[in-house]
Amino acid sequence: MINNIIPLKIAGVGYCIPETVVTNDDLTKLYDTSDEWIYTRTGIKERRLVSGNESAVDLGYKAAERALEKSGLKVEDIDMVICASSAPPELYPAIACRIQAHMGIPNDVPAFDITAACSGLIYAMSIARGFIASGMYKSILLVATDNNSRLLNWEDRSASILFGDGAGAMVVTASDDGVDDIISIDIRANGSIGDLIKLPLAGKNCPLVEANDEQPQFIEMNGKEVYKFVARTLPQYVEEMIEKAGMKAEEIDYLIPHQANLRIIQAVQERLGYSDEKVVTNIKYYGNTSAASIPLAMAESVEQGKVKLGSTAILCGFGAGMTWGGAIVRLREGIC
Ligand code: COA
Repeated sequence: MINNIIPLKIAGVGYCIPETVVTNDDLTKLYDTSDEWIYTRTGIKERRLVSGNESAVDLGYKAAERALEKSGLKVEDIDMVICASSAPPELYPAIACRIQAHMGIPNDVPAFDITAACSGLIYAMSIARGFIASGMYKSILLVATDNNSRLLNWEDRSASILFGDGAGAMVVTASDDGVDDIISIDIRANGSIGDLIKLPLAGKNCPLVEANDEQPQFIEMNGKEVYKFVARTLPQYVEEMIEKAGMKAEEIDYLIPHQANLRIIQAVQERLGYSDEKVVTNIKYYGNTSAASIPLAMAESVEQGKVKLGSTAILCGFGAGMTWGGAIVRLREGIC
């Protein structure tokens, strides 16, 4: 427990999704699958995919503009940009730098990307919290954005059915009323099972060294093992997190989980004893949008009135690494 920290306010959230819809039925044109197979195992019916020159940078930029507008802050107020992405359009420059330039955020403000896959927003919130709590920076723009569709092997029917593209953003700032909107936050990793989901960038050796063929660079996933690990870990983790925060599950209004698989979400829901109204799910329409998944679910559910503001929520996610994390947050009026 850190004492005398500067509390953090979640000032604004936003999201952006590409327009192109690809349904499960559409995927049957690519390989042997069916809407029934995909929907019963994952809860996904369709996903949104980038097209043309659109990328995670464009999606992230639009989500960030919305979050900034809601926050009531201006670009000049932003002291740092952190972007969480695991399927970026380019490894560098960082998406955060691209977004800084697009938005006209002052040129000397630090901007960097982090890779914590689908736990990315929670990792970014945790980093931002440290900077704000210490007084080092006051207002930070967090963007979580991925264009998975460009890094999938569209012949791999077990991975490519799952993912979609999207972006979510959050503006956090030093709280001026003493209330901390992050009631509790926790991040974890277990690199010893890192091969369960990976995106190799193997390249090839220098021809002067030794021959080495270039390897395909696509998302590779052992779906069954990921499922088993997460189903075993996440429900208990979320329950323990609430306990450690000195709270009871019924004191929290909503569960806003990473949208990877409806069955995993239901396992967490069951453990917490929550009714469907308390659980945010949009996986049916977007699939797994990686880092974007939690902020997209949060911002969209608030916009649609499914999540009422002036409430509390538990966010939880997991992803490649393997990483996982959770946060219990206050959702103030006006953030979306
Ligand atoms: N359509 C039809 N059949 C498919 C298929 C598809 N899209 N994908 C795989 N299959 C087949 C397999 O070839 C296999 O056939 P076989 O038994 O004849 O070999 C069979 O279905 C079972 O495959 P398996 O991979 O064991 O399926 P599964 O029940 O584990 O479901 C996932 C696959 C991917 C849906 C499931 O493992 C999952 O959701 N895992 C979690 C992944 C995740 O959350 N990743 C993101 C983390 S952030």
